[in-house]
Amino acid sequence: MGIRKKMGKFVSATVMLAVVASVCVLPAQEKKYEKKLSIGERFHHETSSTWRGVLGDMFRTKPKKPPQYKTYPSSKKIELPKPKYRGMVLEEAIEKRRSIRNYSKQAISMAQLSQLLFAAQGVTGKMYDRVLRSAPSAGALYPFEIYIVVNNVQDLPQGIYHYSVLDHGLELVKAGDFSGKITDAGLKQEMLGDAGVTFVLSAIFDRVRCKFGERGFRYVYIEAGHISQNIYLQAVSLGQGSVCAGVFLDEKVNQLIGVDGSKEAAIYLHAVGSL
Ligand SMILES: Cc1cc2nc3c(=O)[nH]c(=O)nc-3n(C[C@H](O)[C@H](O)[C@H](O)COP(=O)(O)O)c2cc1C
Repeated sequence: MGIRKKMGKFVSATVMLAVVASVCVLPAQEKKYEKKLSIGERFHHETSSTWRGVLGDMFRTKPKKPPQYKTYPSSKKIELPKPKYRGMVLEEAIEKRRSIRNYSKQAISMAQLSQLLFAAQGVTGKMYDRVLRSAPSAGALYPFEIYIVVNNVQDLPQGIYHYSVLDHGLELVKAGDFSGKITDAGLKQEMLGDAGVTFVLSAIFDRVRCKFGERGFRYVYIEAGHISQNIYLQAVSLGQGSVCAGVFLDEKVNQLIGVDGSKEAAIYLHAVGSL
């Protein structure tokens, strides 16, 4: 047998041994932690990358990848103006960024709304056949759908809309005044209903789990922060005030945007209003 063949056999045997140890032996040892850890600690612990986890993941069944784009085929479509605003320099926006919770009664314009949506999840490039967006995404898998609760936007009736990434437009999900409902769902945080528009960042977990397994949940939460920061900085540059909100009743927000809370769930809110 040639040296190459021998080496190959040795490597395969070692990998097999590591796989057996990682899948059968080490998980049993880890079980003893479970009772001592809080749910948050357990989440962090069990989604931590270890060689055992990485190897074990290769053999674990993962969910199928759901469609990349969610659509509302029978809904009313609204075109958005092209996002072409050029505002303050980045360093100034970073310096000026603050969480603002009081807004004037002045409506947000469609051009401003367009710019904010573009900053959140607009298409900014292409890599092979993959469309890339304004905020980074683990594996370019883009788990987020953006919904907006429109309270006070010029020329756009109140309602809940879904952002259609590919055509940079809106799809009407529900017409009506939801300012009271979003405030209630946000544990009475008044700014959510006072804002011109409140963004709901909602994630389809399997888009990430299909590649990264359970660790993908971490990536979803991290990505929400990227998107929200883009909204913050864009709002500053547009001369508007904004604040993110992680405090809300999940079930109520999920109901409002019409998602099940398991396969897809609201992760983060972000209110934007005129100063
Ligand atoms: C994960 C996260 C969740 C937050 N949730 C809320 C919230 O529910 N309501 C709120 O008014 N502010 C919320 N904030 C904003 C913080 O209160 C704010 O960033 C902090 O007080 C610092 O102020 P600054 O943003 O003006 O620098 C949250 C911030 C983060 C990062």
